[in-house]
Order: sequence, then structure tokens, then C-alpha cells
Amino acid sequence: MNKVQVIGTGSYVPPKIVNNNDLSCIVDTSDEWISSRTGIKERRISEGENTADMASKAAMKAIENANIKVEDIDLIIVGTATPDSFIPSTACIVQSNIKAVNATCFDISAACSGFIYSLDIATQFIRSGSCRTALVIGAETLSKIINWEDRNTCVLFGDGAAAAILKTSDIEGILSIFRGSDGSKGKALVSDAIPVKNPYVSKENLDKQMDSTIKMDGREVFKFAVKIITQGVEKLLEDSNCSLEDIKYIVPHQANFRIIESAAKKLGVSEEKFYLNLDRFGNTSAASVGIALDDMVEQNLIQRGDKILLIGFGGGLTYGGIIIQW
Ligand code: COA
Repeated sequence: MNKVQVIGTGSYVPPKIVNNNDLSCIVDTSDEWISSRTGIKERRISEGENTADMASKAAMKAIENANIKVEDIDLIIVGTATPDSFIPSTACIVQSNIKAVNATCFDISAACSGFIYSLDIATQFIRSGSCRTALVIGAETLSKIINWEDRNTCVLFGDGAAAAILKTSDIEGILSIFRGSDGSKGKALVSDAIPVKNPYVSKENLDKQMDSTIKMDGREVFKFAVKIITQGVEKLLEDSNCSLEDIKYIVPHQANFRIIESAAKKLGVSEEKFYLNLDRFGNTSAASVGIALDDMVEQNLIQRGDKILLIGFGGGLTYGGIIIQW
């Protein structure tokens, strides 16, 4: 089995900053409500860039940081719930944009767990010898599926993209992996695609309406998230023979500060152990863990040999985590 290392990260967020006061001009909300209930202060919102545009920019930065040639990439996986198109995949558009001519490309749909799932899949491809150098991306233009009249959801999300390069290595950089799904709770977080419309559609289905905007049972997702972070962290530590003291940072999906507060309490660990930047970017779904990771790299918070625990959860419901040795 080949060993795998993360050798570079990158991220991109659109320049337009929308703060909580800006949102209070659109819906009945306030900076006080949003800050105290979520920890979010501002988010980036696309002024027209789509998911593949942002994904390509994050990818180019990761390639530069990893110091590899674009032609070395033989796998591109994009985790996204907001692709540019049904066909082609966002990964294929990225391939064309960055000219990664030797890559096999596909998207995966795991909502906010998209970056973790993609890291996991790329790890398995490299371990098995199917590929050597993978570009993993989490990218979202959530603003295009937000219901901007729904104060329950529109205050939570933001746009952005993150990327990582994984490569075969002499040193093992992936110490444990945790993953799972619970489709029975799928209705807790929903964004519909398009209805069935064809010349043969039955009468009762003819007028079926579908709406792509996000609908969420916030309390259900909150409970699920706290449970999963707690269980996931414990399982990842057990499988890697690590203790919480061995972990320099836990990098969670950046959904809500109160979720982290509750999980930290349950785990008996200081909130300081969790790296959070949701105050600046909100919940960017599949991009959030990657944006946080790249943020940490840029601030020099991670050194070679450090152990970092990533943990994500989201629509599906889906969840997953990874311990990386940097
Ligand atoms: N501004 C002002 N008031 C708001 C509001 C907003 N943006 N959004 C909701 N409210 C109101 C509600 O209408 C409700 O009013 P009511 O009591 O008159 O009906 C009140 O605030 C309380 O709503 P509630 O749902 O109890 O709030 P909460 O404390 O559970 O917080 C969330 C709501 C969404 C912040 C919280 O449930 C959450 O973070 N859940 C997880 C969501 C998440 O992270 N999803 C993505 C995961 S991938």
C-alpha cells in the first residue's frame, strides 16, 4: 500500500464581503442575532463567478504551493453541491481551465462533507496505486441556491473554494479516516434539482414543483453535528492511537460556533483546540474545511510533523473525518 501526504493547499474566496448589517437590509435580522446564534460576522458572496471559476483559482494556488507541475496531476475530485452544470462535471471544467491534461476527473456530492469525502477517495486511489498525484477541491457558490428571503438560512452561508494536493510519499501523512452517511435524515437539509418533465410524464406528476433553494431543519442539523463531531473525534483518535494532546488543531466544518462550543464541552477539550474562521466566511459547505486549512497554512500555524484532525458533517446526511500528519 502506498503512503500518502498532503503537500500543498490553496483557497479562493470572492472579493465581495457581505456583513451582518448588510443582510439586515434584506431580511428581518440583526448583527446581534446572527453573531450570538452562529458566530458569523461576514461572508463572501459571488458577484458572478461560478463554482468552477473559484475552484480553478484555488487549485492553481495549491499547485504552486505544492511545487508540482500541472501535468503531474492524474486525478481531480471536486466536492460540490452547487456545480456549474449537470454535464460536464465541475472537475472536468477545472481540468480544462488549468490544463491538467493527464487527470481523470469527477465530482462527488456529499454537501458539507464534500472536502473530507474527496480527500478520503483520493487517499484510497493513491494507496491502491491507481494514481500518484491528486488534486482535491471543495467548492461552492451557495449564494445561487440560497433563499434570500429566508432569514433562517440566508444568514448562514457563503461562497468559496479550497484545494489540496495529495501525493505518494515515503512518509504516511494520513493517520486515520472516519466516514458515514444517514440517508434516513436527508430531509433535514434539502436543495432539490429539477422535476421530471418529458412527453410521457404521468398526469399526477405533471405539475410537480421543485425548488432548488436550501431548506433546513436547523435544530435537527445542530444535534446531528454535535453528535458526529464528538463520535468522529473519538473514533479517529482511537484508530490512530493518538490522544487529544497529540492533536495540534481540530479543523471542523465551519457551520456554527455554538455547535463547536457544545462538541468541545462533550469532548472535555478547550474551544481553543478548534480552528475557526467562520466569523469571516460563514458556512461555505464543501469548501469550509479546506479554506480553514489553507488559512492556517498561510498563518504558519502548522509545522511539518504536526497532527491535524479534520471533521465534517452536512446534508445527506453525511459525515467524515481525517487525521493528517503534516
Ligand atoms: N434573524 C433573526 N431571527 C431569526 C433568524 C435571523 N436570521 N433566523 C431565525 N430567527 C428566529 C426564528 O424565526 C425564531 O423565531 P420564533 O421563535 O419567533 O419562531 C427564533 O429566531 C429562534 O429560532 P431557532 O430556530 O430556535 O434558533 P436557534 O437558536 O436554533 O438557531 C440556527 C438557529 C439555524 C442558527 C441553529 O439551529 C443552527 O445553527 N443549526 C445548525 C444549522 C447548520 O449549521 N446547518 C448547516 C450544517 S451543514
